[in-house]
Amino acid sequence: MNISSTKQSRLIFMMKKYVFGAPFSTDAVVISLPCEEGSLPYFETDTSEGLKFTLTLSAKDAVYGLGESVRGINKRGYLYRGFCSDDPNQTEATNSLYGAHNFMVIEQGDKVFGVFFDCPSLINFDIAFTYCDKLIVSSDNTNMNVFIIDGNSCYEIIREFRKAIGMSYIPPMWAFGYTQSRWSYAERDSVRRVAKGYRDCHIPLDAIYLDIDYMERYKDFTVDKEAFGDLKEFADEMKKQNIRLVPIIDAGVKIEDGYDVYEEGVKNGYFCTDKDGKPFEACVWPGMTHFPDFLNPDARLWFGEKYKILTDMGIEGFWNDMNEPAIFYSQQSVDKAHELVKDFAKEETLTLQGFETLKGYFGSRQNCGEDYSAFYHNTPQGRYCHKNVHNLYGYNMTRSAAEGLEKTDPDKRFLLFSRASYIGMHRYSGIWTGDNFSWWSHILAELRVLPGLNMCGFLYVGADLGGFGCECTRDLLLRWLSLGIFTPLMRNHAACGTREQECYQFENPEDFKHIIDLRYRLIPYIYSEYMKAALSGDMMFKPLAFEFPEDEVAKRTEDQILLGNEVMIAPVYTQNAIGRYVYLPEEMTAVRMNKGELTFTQMEKGHHFVEIAENEVVFYIRKDKAIPLCKPAMCTEELDRENLELIGTGNEYVLYTDDGISKDFGKNENYRTLTK
Ligand code: GLC
Repeated sequence: MNISSTKQSRLIFMMKKYVFGAPFSTDAVVISLPCEEGSLPYFETDTSEGLKFTLTLSAKDAVYGLGESVRGINKRGYLYRGFCSDDPNQTEATNSLYGAHNFMVIEQGDKVFGVFFDCPSLINFDIAFTYCDKLIVSSDNTNMNVFIIDGNSCYEIIREFRKAIGMSYIPPMWAFGYTQSRWSYAERDSVRRVAKGYRDCHIPLDAIYLDIDYMERYKDFTVDKEAFGDLKEFADEMKKQNIRLVPIIDAGVKIEDGYDVYEEGVKNGYFCTDKDGKPFEACVWPGMTHFPDFLNPDARLWFGEKYKILTDMGIEGFWNDMNEPAIFYSQQSVDKAHELVKDFAKEETLTLQGFETLKGYFGSRQNCGEDYSAFYHNTPQGRYCHKNVHNLYGYNMTRSAAEGLEKTDPDKRFLLFSRASYIGMHRYSGIWTGDNFSWWSHILAELRVLPGLNMCGFLYVGADLGGFGCECTRDLLLRWLSLGIFTPLMRNHAACGTREQECYQFENPEDFKHIIDLRYRLIPYIYSEYMKAALSGDMMFKPLAFEFPEDEVAKRTEDQILLGNEVMIAPVYTQNAIGRYVYLPEEMTAVRMNKGELTFTQMEKGHHFVEIAENEVVFYIRKDKAIPLCKPAMCTEELDRENLELIGTGNEYVLYTDDGISKDFGKNENYRTLTK
């Protein structure tokens, strides 16, 4: 028996598949497993009304996972919903965010196991919320696969799960640089100003994003020529400064006669349809649109090939948006509103009662269940109502892009990330965590979501640094960047109408420069840890609980996480703080960056108050570990990845390195042992 078949048989032993009804095949799991006979272990199953699975928890039991979700690393004590939601109100009370990642690892007494509810529609997780000692998972959907993974530790289970869902997306090296975005840099000159703003202050930068205004009337795969001229020429001009342009692509295709994407989609039946088979109409940024039917392989292929229009102009990265799909209101809502007006209008005047009814009606139209129940997909598995496969929409839009890009240039890595997602999409792209706010609590929210995302396969991740909505302050951005320098996607993004938050807009831009310089010094390490995690199905960000399971304090620490096998990060996330309390589960080296200089302090295991000024970064290297650092550079292209210095008390580090652009990764010669 060769090694791979040994591994396969071990995997079959650890992961088991239980089938309820006739599930829609989501392609989340890429290995084939036999269907188990008998009932789902550990849970009590109730099939009398939908599906309901109940597990008893004791006070000490912990639940990890659920990917993109609010609240803690340990998910106990709240209600979550697996349902891709366009909800910018990311507060503690939000039950679902943009992604639906239904995988959990549960520590129950001295047992630990993983469970993945492969449910493409709404599923509820009541984790010790209604009853303190019960985890209740329920869905109206009676058709789903549930996978149980047994193992000895959370960590081992996650690795098994990751093998089963396939290798995570690998971006190009330049996508690890610092990047700037805003809704919108609406013409060439504002993009040029951003590039100049950064270069004049000597703050490194690798890319600038183009939000919806680069398009002609928000039509996918078009360019507003008046504002951007020849995009190819402009992309070249920017690339000469080592800055890439990364345009947005939205899910909805504008209904407009003469617009080729719209006309081809209608002609070939590539759009989602209403109950009568007519393309479904909904309003998003472009006005009335149709939604490409990404669950139809022909439509997926067709849309994916369109990205070539932009790659032919020198574009090497994209962000896919509004793909839950977001609906402001639908044509059916408008039709119903006309009926309501008729009921309430007296001659030319609307009665107050009519006004209130209409206000209430329109207030509930955005992303409403009625609309998600009103359109259909033509899939190889049959015609499906959207509400039954909702969670797969953004996933398949992004799959379409990835497959199109793969066809265009099979050997090249493109930057690609999406807003909506489902497990399985992690093979095609990364995600950003959508519309957050310039709130201090959102720094902590970002830190806490990272391990859960990694558990579900999403490695290329990051939040809108500085916050998308409301006004960013200088101190908030400095503190947020001090976390952002460690996340694979490092992007500053803001909504229209908010204060400009490019680093050079604030006083003393050199403070920002020093923090972002440190990011570039760390790129060889961050890239290496990313690649190791992707290639071996590992987590890049781990809760302390996974590495120090016997340490009760570490197990409950929710504001520090481990990065790779060597580093612990503990950012400041409160305003006007002079530092923060940090718990060291073992002796570590504190690395302090002050005005670009690094100093090192040995610290004992235990609790410490660590002073950290706004313009400083402090992170920790674990006992007997070392990490590589390079010299700062203005962009990834200029990084000297050969001359690396090792810091920390360890004597060696195994560096993963490659050309950062081709898909020829994972070869033995890409691993190099660096010694002091
Ligand atoms: C959505 C996206 C945001 C983008 C905006 C305009 O809100 O989440 O990132 O800037 O649309 O395209």
